[in-house]
Amino acid sequence: MSVAVLNATQLVTLAGPRRARVRAEMRELAIVPAGGMLIEDGRVSRIGPSAEIENGLPAGSQVIDATGKVVLPGFVDAHAHPVFGGNRVDEFEMRAQGATYEEIAASGGGIRSTVARTRAASEEELLAQAKKHAGWFLANGTTTVEAKSGYGLTVEDEIKILRVIRRLNAETPIEFVPTFLGAHAVPDEFRSAPEQYVALVIHKMLPRVVEEQLAESCDVFCERGYFDITESEKILKAAQDSGLRLRMHVDQLTNSGGAFLAARLKAATADHLEQVNAAEIAALVEAGVQPVLLPASVYSLGKTRYPPAREMIDAGLAVVLATDFNPGSSPTASMPMVLSLAATQMKMTPAESVTAATINAAYTLNRGDQIGSLEQGKRANFALYDCADYREIAYYFGVSMVHSVYVSGKRIL
Ligand code: NIG
Ligand code: FE
Repeated sequence: MSVAVLNATQLVTLAGPRRARVRAEMRELAIVPAGGMLIEDGRVSRIGPSAEIENGLPAGSQVIDATGKVVLPGFVDAHAHPVFGGNRVDEFEMRAQGATYEEIAASGGGIRSTVARTRAASEEELLAQAKKHAGWFLANGTTTVEAKSGYGLTVEDEIKILRVIRRLNAETPIEFVPTFLGAHAVPDEFRSAPEQYVALVIHKMLPRVVEEQLAESCDVFCERGYFDITESEKILKAAQDSGLRLRMHVDQLTNSGGAFLAARLKAATADHLEQVNAAEIAALVEAGVQPVLLPASVYSLGKTRYPPAREMIDAGLAVVLATDFNPGSSPTASMPMVLSLAATQMKMTPAESVTAATINAAYTLNRGDQIGSLEQGKRANFALYDCADYREIAYYFGVSMVHSVYVSGKRIL
């Protein structure tokens, strides 16, 4: 069955080199005005001027009229924590009254409070809540989401979260790409012996995750009060040895040299980087590590220091933008909101942001050949927006321009 999208005011394809985009390439979206696209078996088979697509239209094709609308590839959200119990709306109010994220964490809140609620929830309960979150991603034009564990912190609870991610992948239209984040925080019961928790992650959790094929990557929260460089390195090396790819939370609240470690281990990504310095940026370039920037977490924590996106782009890094969706520091599933913050707070152009949230993100998930752009042979994951210029998607912040969303050529919203 073939499907054709016709008459898109702007068909934003992101056609280009078969790799993550850098420097000036990030501004080249390969937009087809009055564009059309033919989809066969869920994949893009032809793309170009609408009139040409219409000419060779196979009989019986279903037609999607995109007159007056923008078409964009589905967003690829390369950093998210979508499976957790409860929320932290109480901490949101505390921060509004002056408390900081670090103070709240030190007084027993923070990640640990979500861990308690996640442990108490059954697999079914977590799945039901996460499906609600999946709906939020879809409603904002996102069709692929990287999903981290990290709110269980026992062997069984981490496995429970990863199984929920597997079920989300099977039971929702979104493709969820699982990441094991057992080293998200040291749980209370190991406070006095953190080295024993690191051993548990390496010797008990990792082997189970690998054996049950529950994750593609391993992540660590490398931060003062969480995991230091030595602990992070031990965990990540063990993960790498068992065949997982690496992603890292580094230089978020303080600089502990995590970006150097990401470079040394040739991690796929180094994420956050609010406190990164020039020497670290150079090391990331040298090692080919992609930075994943999460401005919504800076905004949501009421902080003002955003990662230096311009320096990174000028240095040649293939910058990625993601939501960091999680209950503590970034309760948003909205990539358009992230694009708005990237423009106003990090001086990224709308085109650079779109590249960072689609094709560059896809490469960090090892899926650059399948998703992230609308090119022949790729999965037909895309959204229609009720506007005539793609820049309006970020410009009208807080207002959704999403008209409809398609996964593998099928309308799902
Ligand atoms: O990416 N940095 C660690 N993890 C999350 C915060 C998690 C939480 O507060 O629950 C983040 O910001
Ligand atoms: Fe995160």
